[in-house]
Amino acid sequence: MQHTLAFEYESYAGIHELSKEDAWLLQEARKVTVNAYAPYSNFHVGAVAMMANGQVVTGTNQENASYPVGICAERVLLGTIATLQPNVEIVSMAISYSSDSVKSDHPISPCGMCRQALLEYETRLHKPIRLILGGMEGKVFIIKTASLLLPFAFTSSELK
Ligand code: THU
Repeated sequence: MQHTLAFEYESYAGIHELSKEDAWLLQEARKVTVNAYAPYSNFHVGAVAMMANGQVVTGTNQENASYPVGICAERVLLGTIATLQPNVEIVSMAISYSSDSVKSDHPISPCGMCRQALLEYETRLHKPIRLILGGMEGKVFIIKTASLLLPFAFTSSELK
């Protein structure tokens, strides 16, 4: 038997089409890219979370001369949130990037490892994390829950 998987996401022509709150969060993600440490890839990623208590938490990618040691902005952010705001739900996470070598004119989406980490956090807090993805300019995607990016995921339910 053949199966097909599909998922829904919203796309917008630019930040100007977003709600005031979403536009603000994406703008913060753009701004925080300056705190990335990315001397090897020159790809500066910013991730910003709007928490259920109204607090805002930021993360950026942090690279290392030993390349695999580097960590993505999304997982830096999740670790920071888990430490500073434990048990507070994440409502939305905006992710943006800047670079001298490539144009930041379209959305990027979290890498596979970050998708797994996002899914774990959704499961842990029993709350979907809404993703707002956009570059410094251009199209924006909104995905209602990070889990949509990881079909057939491996989860804790396998370990019981
Ligand atoms: N990176 C992120 O921080 N988040 C993503 O969603 C994609 C990739 C980082 C990892 C590495 O420091 C650089 O971007 C290039 O891959």
